Amino acid sequence: MVAVLEHQVEAVRRRLAQAAGCDSEEMAITRNASEALENAQYGIDLKPGDEVLTTDQDYPRMLTTFAQRERREGIVLKTISFPVPPPSMDDLYRRFEQAVTPRTKLILFCHITNRTGQIFPVRRICQMARERNIPTIIDGAHAFSHFPYQISDLDCDYYGTSLHKWTYAPIGTGFLYVRKSRIAGTWSMMASDKTQAGDIRKFEEIGTHPAANHNAISEALVFNENLGVDRKAARLRYLRDRWAKRLAQNPKCRILHSPDPAQSCGIGFLAFTGGIDGGKMREALWSKYNIVTTYMPHTEYSGLRVTPNIYSTLREVDFFASMVEKELAL
Ligand SMILES: Cc1ncc(COP(=O)(O)O)c(C=O)c1O
Repeated sequence: MVAVLEHQVEAVRRRLAQAAGCDSEEMAITRNASEALENAQYGIDLKPGDEVLTTDQDYPRMLTTFAQRERREGIVLKTISFPVPPPSMDDLYRRFEQAVTPRTKLILFCHITNRTGQIFPVRRICQMARERNIPTIIDGAHAFSHFPYQISDLDCDYYGTSLHKWTYAPIGTGFLYVRKSRIAGTWSMMASDKTQAGDIRKFEEIGTHPAANHNAISEALVFNENLGVDRKAARLRYLRDRWAKRLAQNPKCRILHSPDPAQSCGIGFLAFTGGIDGGKMREALWSKYNIVTTYMPHTEYSGLRVTPNIYSTLREVDFFASMVEKELAL
């Protein structure tokens, strides 16, 4: 197990680093985005009164992680809000820039949100933070293998993703990128020896676990390389536009993802006007027609996250749009 199966993680690390655009010594294999991101979120020393900045549309577990540090260590969690869709990438950038204070010691935000699928101007925000010596953690849970990018282009310090989402690797796979110069200064969430301080593998000290899951990441990468991430992104935008452009014609519908290809990809968001209950629509689509959507309430908006994948057919996408129209006409 140790000499043969576990050792193959090194080949996975090299392949993943190549696909993600980083050095293999900056690539830790984790079990999901939560484990990756929490290593970064807990691993940075903060003092009482230090501020961490994120948005109120970030993933609940990542907000909970900071909220627990707030209760335990007296740090201050600050969240910014933003309209969906936002007027521009520039608007998103400015919201971050304006919220930074001399006490801001860490910034976390999504590459693409799991709600309306909003893509953020990652590089610009990271560079603004870098100028102020503030480390950045990017939640890329939904970004990797979804649309093209290289981590080296983003200029972030930490990047966490799941590989059981858009990479189609087995459930229980993810990675954490840590910029080389940040590894030694970041504590691992599960204890590692002091001799491991500068080794990216310190974030993998999770005890005995199945090697099959992480070894299969290589197979998933081959599958994705054959598809090509540019083609994947094009297909996902095509399917998303197909239902969204149709339902946008319906006065009872509102589309809340951005139509700008730089700001959105395969995740779309359908909201309703006139007090139509999105939760009831989700239930009707599922119980009557076996259509899976995700109801997402928020203080400022609510509706359905709609996410066909590359293998969804045009007929399925059209069926979804027809059944929404049918339910709205009832
Ligand atoms: C934006 C975002 N971050 C983090 C996570 C956590 O991912 P996982 O459950 O794979 O750890 C998710 C999961 O849906 C997510 O959408």
